[in-house]
Amino acid sequence: MSSFLIAPSILSANFARLGEEVDAVLSAGADIVHFDVMDNHYVPNLTIGPMVCKALRDYGVTAPIDVHLMVKPVDEMITQFAEAGASYISFHPEASEHVDRSLQLIIDAGCKPGLVFNPATPLHYLDHVMDKLHHILIMSVNPGFGGQQFLPSTYDKLRQVKQRVTDSGKNIRIEIDGGVKVDNIRAVAEAGADMFVAGSAIFNAPDYQQVINDMREELRQ
Ligand code: DX5
Ligand code: ZN
Repeated sequence: MSSFLIAPSILSANFARLGEEVDAVLSAGADIVHFDVMDNHYVPNLTIGPMVCKALRDYGVTAPIDVHLMVKPVDEMITQFAEAGASYISFHPEASEHVDRSLQLIIDAGCKPGLVFNPATPLHYLDHVMDKLHHILIMSVNPGFGGQQFLPSTYDKLRQVKQRVTDSGKNIRIEIDGGVKVDNIRAVAEAGADMFVAGSAIFNAPDYQQVINDMREELRQ
């Protein structure tokens, strides 16, 4: 896989100054913007919808916006986020009645599709849909909140996903989400991830650039 991508999760940003916060992490060297959508139904929290995605585009954000849908049902939100300027859209397979159809909806809308796996979601959901995937998002916490601890069982799962991707011969990115910090990002990369979501590690730090530089330094070693 070509390069490592760092994706700050705006869940931990200051929402009262969201445009400036996104500008700040992108100027600090982030590659993409991770956008967590929670519906207080599939997960026990409520966040932001397509209007906010569109507002970021209207504000002038040109970087890829990586929409992580933690919603059920899924399909209506795919359409709305594609119209609002999303670049990547991922969803949890157990939240969709028809996983292949939802993936195809994302593709048809001109976005890059991903499937998300909770810590206890089995990888068999990858069967039969590898051809459609741009990325696989492995949750290293249970979804719903920022600032949780990285679950160590994730390393083994990442290695399994990496093997599946290698066996498939496809160019599929492996994204990791939850509890990623400077002190574990290297181990996470060694286990197979190449796209790193980090919310609290970046936005709770006084100097975003310092954290992102430190992460890149860890990834270089
Ligand atoms: C959790 C979200 C994550 C979260 C990560 O459900 O999907 O993107 O914001 O936050 P940290 O990096 O603080 O664990
Ligand atoms: Zn997320």
